[in-house]
Amino acid sequence: MNEAAARQATNHPDLPPFFQLVALESTESTSNEVEVRAQAGASEGLLVWARQQTKGRGRQGRHWESPSGNLYCSLLLRPEVETAKAAELGFVAGVAVRDCVASLFSKEQTVRCKWPNDILVGQSKIAGILLEATVQERGTRVIVGIGVNLVNHPLETSYPATDLRSQGAATADPARVLERLAGSLLRWREVWLTEGFGAIRRTWLEHAAGLGEDISVRLPDQTLVGKFESIDERGALELHLPGGEMHIVTAGDVFLNQPAMKTSG
Ligand code: BTN
Repeated sequence: MNEAAARQATNHPDLPPFFQLVALESTESTSNEVEVRAQAGASEGLLVWARQQTKGRGRQGRHWESPSGNLYCSLLLRPEVETAKAAELGFVAGVAVRDCVASLFSKEQTVRCKWPNDILVGQSKIAGILLEATVQERGTRVIVGIGVNLVNHPLETSYPATDLRSQGAATADPARVLERLAGSLLRWREVWLTEGFGAIRRTWLEHAAGLGEDISVRLPDQTLVGKFESIDERGALELHLPGGEMHIVTAGDVFLNQPAMKTSG
């Protein structure tokens, strides 16, 4: 094998047959790239991976810093379920990314899922998931965008961030991490298909950050503080308010380690 072929072999991810990989040096957003190809009829399993993104997108319209060195990928799924049920795939991706990240540490490291779709190492965010679902004539089209901080993390974020290398992970090579992530996504998708959301929910709760603790949830019009009781059978967050009422949150930003139980506008 000549040097170029050897480099190609070690750089190019080796993925299970389910995935149709499109590897790009740079793109605006891997999720945009999947969207364009999905509209043109791409099938389930399309996986776009880019070394860097120029317009990476996060949840709630936020920017996702995407310099080269980290992992940016988006997966196309076409589950034959209604859109509300397709939201479960955010938790499927969450447990898959958590497992993948945890497997990269040679010594025990606490890797947790933060509602709805973040992954934390210690108290800091290492990965984020952006789930975009569109109703189709039959079923739902879902684009699962995943960003994992491997060697860089942003410094000025509303939630503290970290990256794999600075946490001492065994590898931070994007191609190798993508291989592990793909295997993990496939395994957890299979669990979802065969055992249903109950099994995903149980695993997610086993690794949930802040469960049973006081957290605050930032909503568009107010911030609520209460005890994080659980997630319900649709994945919504159950927040036990100081007055005793249970508030069901379907979208918002969670902050952990909130000392006092109080509500504020
Ligand atoms: C978040 O935590 O806000 C979600 C971040 C998702 C970022 C990934 S990177 C790959 C894919 N392409 C994007 O533009 N966004 C997602």
